[in-house]
Amino acid sequence: MPLKMTAPERTDLNEYEDYAQLRALLTLQRPRTDAPAELSFIVVTQVMELYFTLLRHEWESARDELTRPNADVRGVVRTLRRGHGVQDALTAAWEALRTLTPTEFDAFRESFGVASGIQSYQYRHIEFLLGARHPRALAVHEQTPGIHADLAAQAASPSLYDAALTLLRRRGFAVPQVLADRDPRTEYEGDDRVVAVWRAVYADEASTDTASTQTAHADLVDLGDALFDTAERHLRWKQRHLLSVWRSMGDKPGSAGTSGAQWLERGVHRKYFPDLWTLRDQGWA
Ligand code: HEM
Repeated sequence: MPLKMTAPERTDLNEYEDYAQLRALLTLQRPRTDAPAELSFIVVTQVMELYFTLLRHEWESARDELTRPNADVRGVVRTLRRGHGVQDALTAAWEALRTLTPTEFDAFRESFGVASGIQSYQYRHIEFLLGARHPRALAVHEQTPGIHADLAAQAASPSLYDAALTLLRRRGFAVPQVLADRDPRTEYEGDDRVVAVWRAVYADEASTDTASTQTAHADLVDLGDALFDTAERHLRWKQRHLLSVWRSMGDKPGSAGTSGAQWLERGVHRKYFPDLWTLRDQGWA
C-alpha cells in the first residue's frame, strides 16, 4: 500500500518562517541613513522592545497570581526567575552597542529627530509594574490616546510589590490595612511596619535548625529574594544604559530634551521595592 503523505499546504513560506513570522520581522529593520552603525542601533532597540514586552507578560501574570486567594507563590517565584533570564539577556544586549563612538552615533542621530526611548511604552509598563508611578511618565503619551489609556490603566493597577503586600496580609502578617488599600496611582515609598514583616518572614527561615525542617514561610522568603533580584537586575540595565550614553554622546542633551546622562543618572540609584533594601540596611539575623 502506498504511503500516504499528508504534506502541509505549500506556500512560499516554510514552516519555520511561518511560525516565527520571519517575513514580517525581517522587513522591520529600516535604517534611515547609510551610516554603518545605524542597523545595530535599530536591531538592539527592537530586541530590547521585544524583551520589555516579554517581561511585561511575565510580571503581569506574577502580579495577578499574587492577588488571588491561595496564590501559587512557588509558581510566581518560577515566573520571576524566568524574568531574571530575560533581564540578564536585556542587559547583555548592550554589548552590541559597546563600540558605538560619538562620531558613529552622530552619523545617524539627526535621522531620528526627537524620537527617544523615553517614549517607549513597553518600558513604561515594566516601570509601572515595578512600582514607579511618576505622573510625568504618563504625560509623555498624551499625543497617543490609545497608549495613554493603556498605560493609565497599568498605573491604576497594583504593582508587583502591592500584590506582594496583599499576599503577606492574607497570610496573616501585620501589613496595615491602609497600605493594602493604598491608591496604586501614588508611589509606595516604603514603611517600617512592612520592613518588620519581612524581617519576621526571614527570621522564620533563619530559625530553621535542620535541613529537613520546612519553615512555614519558605515560599515567602523565596518571593522576597526573587523580588529583590528583579529590582537589582533592572538597575543593572539602567546602569548599562547610562554607560552607553556616556560613551556614545557624553553629557550632551538627549533627543527628548532632557539633560541626557545627567537626567538618567538620577534614576540609577532608585530602590524599587524599598522595604527590601531597608531590610538590608538593618539586617534580619
Ligand atoms: C547608545 C545608544 C543610546 C543613547 C545615546 C541613548 C540616550 C538616551 C537619553 C539621552 C535618554 C534621556 C531622554 C532623552 O532626552 O532622550 C534616554 C532615555 C531612554 N532610553 Fe536610551 N539611549 C540609547 C539606547 C537605547 C536603547 C537601545 C534603548 C532600548 C529600547 C533605550 C531606551 C531608553 C529608555 C527606555 C529611556 C527612558 C528612561 C527613563 O525614563 O528612565 N535607549 N536614552
